[in-house]
Amino acid sequence: MTERLAVIGDPVGHSLSPQIHMTWIDTMGLKASYESIRVPAGETAAALEDFARKKFRGLNVTLPHKQAVLKSVAEMSDAVKAIGAANTLSRLKDGGWRADNTDAPGLMAALARVGIQSVSGKKVLVLGAGGAARAALYALDKAGADLVVLNRTPDKAGAVIADCCAQQHRFGPLDDLALHAEKADLMINTTSAGHTGYHFELPPGKGRTFFDMSYGAPARAQLEHAREAGWEAADGLPMLVCQAAESFRIWFGGELPDIELALEACRETLKLHG
Ligand code: ATR
Repeated sequence: MTERLAVIGDPVGHSLSPQIHMTWIDTMGLKASYESIRVPAGETAAALEDFARKKFRGLNVTLPHKQAVLKSVAEMSDAVKAIGAANTLSRLKDGGWRADNTDAPGLMAALARVGIQSVSGKKVLVLGAGGAARAALYALDKAGADLVVLNRTPDKAGAVIADCCAQQHRFGPLDDLALHAEKADLMINTTSAGHTGYHFELPPGKGRTFFDMSYGAPARAQLEHAREAGWEAADGLPMLVCQAAESFRIWFGGELPDIELALEACRETLKLHG
């Protein structure tokens, strides 16, 4: 039987997930398919019932369903409970769904790729407090980082820390970026500001790492500026591939699939289509 997998979202046409997973499915010779399926907001529960009926083995979940799916799942990981969002569903034997969040391990694996094996005791400055920040803050807090979260709407940063972190951390407005950046060992941009072409002004990086969770065109101006200011700048594409690898392992078990292979395929696609 061919195992069916899909990413659901709206919009979903731009998603690189089918390419990433099909790279692994093809090279491993698995009998499986991975589609991208548009599911409009408000239709989450009905769609999950339908995918269960059609015996999908697993789903990746993107906007606007990452929180909505939690209402329809039978089981969820502790990470999903703390983050309040899931990106990976797997069908249980009795037909219900289990929810996991692989964005958190995906971020840590992506940081390890740029030489940051541990954030324990390190000062990490996080920009943004939206959906993308939640998994990042959960993972960094759990790994023992000393966090400062800056957001255009500072109160939201405080609320997200309270939701997703076991420790207390400082937060404030983005106006304080330069002040906190001076002392940071690592800076992570989780905001969607780059989608409008905007970039944050950074003080001199002195070889420290600036990690942007976005990739492709929205990350370009920010990464270019970060490099000019002397930061080691890294984009979020490896994080996308690393979170996909964790999802793949949840569905198929065994070792993590080949990150480099899928990353190279994605880089080619972005070169062609931005
Ligand atoms: P996502 O799921 O991509 O994180 P989101 O939940 O809408 O999307 O959150 C977007 C984040 O980017 C928020 O932290 C947002 O700041 P606010 O909470 O103040 O809205 C931030 N953001 C978006 N555009 C921005 C901009 N031009 N300048 C600064 N922050 C911005």
